[in-house]
Order: sequence, then structure tokens, then C-alpha cells
Amino acid sequence: MENKAESLMGHGSFWLPRSASTVSDNTDLLYNVIMWGSTLLFIAIIAVGIYFVIKYRRTSANMKAEKHVIHNTTLELSWTIIPLILVMIIFVWGYKDYLKLSIPPADSMVINVTGKKWFWQFNYPKEGKNMLNEVVVPQGRPVKLVMTSEDVIHSFYVPNFRVKKDVVPNRYSIVWFEAKDTGVFQVFCTEYCGDGHSGMMATLRVLSQSDYDKWLVESELSEDIPLDQLGKKLFETKACVTCHSVDGSAKVGPTWKGLFGHHVDLANGQSVEADENYLRESMVAPNAKVVKGFAPVMPTYAGLLKDKEIAALIEYIKTLK
Ligand code: CUA
Repeated sequence: MENKAESLMGHGSFWLPRSASTVSDNTDLLYNVIMWGSTLLFIAIIAVGIYFVIKYRRTSANMKAEKHVIHNTTLELSWTIIPLILVMIIFVWGYKDYLKLSIPPADSMVINVTGKKWFWQFNYPKEGKNMLNEVVVPQGRPVKLVMTSEDVIHSFYVPNFRVKKDVVPNRYSIVWFEAKDTGVFQVFCTEYCGDGHSGMMATLRVLSQSDYDKWLVESELSEDIPLDQLGKKLFETKACVTCHSVDGSAKVGPTWKGLFGHHVDLANGQSVEADENYLRESMVAPNAKVVKGFAPVMPTYAGLLKDKEIAALIEYIKTLK
């Protein structure tokens, strides 16, 4: 979270995090006009109210001058027409921005997004890349996200881009943005989706076009490190961290500390030794052996982890004594 949080909060205003997409400045301007406009009107109405309370308070002079006003056409028209004009300005402005946000440019690059308890999966159909909880996009190019959910309703939210959209099972929802700056931004899930909801976050990295092209090539090679270190990286990037701890504390799932080689009590009353085969099975068929005291909520990682990655995670678990 360190550098992510810094990037998320850094350089923003008191009200809003840094605006980093081509549409977010419009959204912020409308927000500021509505907020400061309402604030000014509020202060003006209260000021006039206080002034009238004092000026027309009950005194003998005021009582003598008292006149009963029953109708005032000018007043009625002005308090109807002036607010109508203000509201219509906000409506037309908001509707135009809404259309801009809803229609992705025709030359957008497409990334498929799947929300799942409790991680985000990103699939680049053209580039053939698959990523978990991390997405990399080029700066200055419109990106269209075609999103769906494999289980419950999630919501994809990037505060810095001012885009948010529900991610719903059995249909696609679309969101698009064009990043105007490079940087690291946080993706949140903003629809309560169960125990791991608050940990359902992804990192959105914006690279310059040339760095992005380099990344496309290099990320293929970056796995050439010792297996346990690769496993440690995967623990974060493949979202294991959302539900498992490595310090012995229980989260949604059992901790990985001291797991390897020890006996595990299962929900069905049996017990198994946590060896390589048990760990592998727990990743690809997590409901085959559910640990006692835990709900069978882990999604299968079959197809999401390559063989080498499964081996790397096992090596990492072995180091957690
Ligand atoms: Cu997914 Cu909350």
C-alpha cells in the first residue's frame, strides 16, 4: 500500500484526490460549481433570514406598520424561474459529461475485467496477457474496460479517474478512461461483496507509451527469480493476501505460517498432512478439503496459476515456519 496510498492521496485537494484522467477535470469542475454554488446560496439565505428576523421583529412601531401580504406575482415568478434556470444548467452540464463518460472512443484499447470474490482479474484480449489485481495501461490512450462478475455484484472504482461502475454477473458493464499522467493508482471494490470486500483492491499502473511497450515484452521474463521469492510476489499479486496471513493470524482463510508439513484438521473430521499435493489441491480445487473452522469460500485458481506459479507458492509457504 505504501507507494499506492501516496500516489492516491498525493497532490489532491482537500476534497478530492488528484485528478488523473482526461474526463476527471470536467467532473471536478461541475462538482465545484455545485458545491460552492450551494454554499453561497446557503449563506445568502441564512444572512437574509437573520436580517429579516431582526428588522421585522415584534415592536410597537412594526405592529402599527403591519400589512398582510396575500399574494405577490413577481416574487412567485422569481422564486420559480431562478431555481429552474439553475437546475437546468446543472442538468444539461451533467448530462453532457455523463454522455462523455458513457461512450468510449472508437479507438479505445480493450481490457476485459472479471470481478470475483475477492480479486480483480484483467485479461488483454489482443496482447494475450492475464493479470490478477494489477493492470497496466499506456498514458494518453483511451482504455475501455469490459467488465463482468463470476459471483456477486462488485463495483469497479478508480477515485483518481472519477470512474465507477457496478460489475454484475451475467452481463457486461463498460467503463472507459484516458490517463493523462503516469503513476500508480488504486482500484477499489465499492459494492459490499462479503468478508474480503475491503481487501478487494487492485493496482492500476499508467506507463508512458514507450515504457508500456517495453513492459509488454519484459513482463514475460520477470519470473526469472528464485521460486520462493516468486511465490512471495505472487502471494501479493494473485490476491492470496486478501484472505491468508503469513504471520499466524486468521483471516477469511487459514494462515500460511507453519502450515507446511503439519497436520491440518478438516471440516469433515479427517486430518491431512500439508504436503505439496495438499497445497496444490487447495489452490486448484479448494473445496475438496475444507479446513475446520473456515467457510468453503475460496475460489478455484485452476487456469489462473501456471504450474510454475503453483510451485513457487508452495516454495514460499515452505519458508514460513
Ligand atoms: Cu467486490 Cu466488494
